[in-house]
Amino acid sequence: MNLNLRTPAGTRISNFSFGTMQWGGKADATDSRAMYDLARAAGINFFDTAHGYTGGVSETLLGEFVAADRNDLFIATKCASTGDCRPEAIAQDFEDSLGRLNMDSVDMLYMHRWSDEVPLEATYEVLAKLVQAGRVNHIGVSNYAAWQVMKAIRVAASFDLKIEMSQPMYSLVKRQAEVEMLPMCRSENIAVVPYSPLGGGLLTGKYSQGSEGRLTHDAMYKSRYGQSWMHSAASALGDVAKEHGISPITLAIAWVAHNPAITAPILSASKSSQLQPSLDAMDYKLDAELYARLTNLTPTPAPATDRSEKA
Ligand SMILES: NC(=O)c1ccc[n+]([C@@H]2O[C@H](COP(=O)([O-])OP(=O)(O)OC[C@H]3O[C@@H](n4cnc5c(N)ncnc54)[C@H](OP(=O)(O)O)[C@@H]3O)[C@@H](O)[C@H]2O)c1
Repeated sequence: MNLNLRTPAGTRISNFSFGTMQWGGKADATDSRAMYDLARAAGINFFDTAHGYTGGVSETLLGEFVAADRNDLFIATKCASTGDCRPEAIAQDFEDSLGRLNMDSVDMLYMHRWSDEVPLEATYEVLAKLVQAGRVNHIGVSNYAAWQVMKAIRVAASFDLKIEMSQPMYSLVKRQAEVEMLPMCRSENIAVVPYSPLGGGLLTGKYSQGSEGRLTHDAMYKSRYGQSWMHSAASALGDVAKEHGISPITLAIAWVAHNPAITAPILSASKSSQLQPSLDAMDYKLDAELYARLTNLTPTPAPATDRSEKA
């Protein structure tokens, strides 16, 4: 579902976006620039960063790279990565972000997480002021449950503000979003921009070959993707990919993009040399049979009602 979200110059957002979480971390400035150029050459006009990424270097590099083409691009950042959703914290994060990006406004500002500590009214009032002041074009949320989005929609509406995008985790090995988030977004006309379509790298198949990467270096990701069925699914995806003579990376991303609720999966890499099979997914259409086969590699989450019986 590609909703009518546009760059400042009026072009619709691309069906894939690019995530800059590794810029200034594993990727230095030169290689980050190479990724930017590859993404632009492939037709991507939608870039994702966050106040919390790489101590601000991700935003700074993105600001430098996009400067010449700013109006042709849709720039999303996020605030409150630590869950501090107090108005003062949001305002401060956002000022930092605009300064690093060297921009007057951004196209999308996401709340990076839900907060139980701060009343939603306080959070959404400050976001509404940023929109009214022309400093943010659209508001989104990330890592919210569907009920939290619905609650935030009601509070935001009281400030004449819409929630227009959700950024959930979603991949073949993380399918919880299918239960409530994706149907809710379709029902409420909210764009879905899923992150980690490769399961943080698990679905590349490199771990079954004994290679190193984020899942061996980062304890949080190791734990997030630590269940043995996930690793078995990654191996099985590799077998299907071999049969079709295509990269498992291309298949895994095409599978995410195939879901009609999805607006623009976020592609990413820690090195520019990794990126091509992800970009290939932009032109790869799965047929119904292959989509079903890939879907069957992992357990379908139970419906929200738990009434999974047919009769
Ligand atoms: N809202 C949120 O809370 C949130 C959270 C996470 C991400 N995000 C956004 O979503 C974007 C994508 O997330 P993600 O990085 O987790 O996505 P992902 O597509 O699941 O994982 C990308 C990682 O897979 C590995 N990889 C990719 N291509 C490869 C190749 N050809 N060979 C070997 N390894 C390869 C690399 O990791 P290694 O080389 O390091 O192993 C790369 O950084 C981020 O940049 C960020 O913008 C948002």
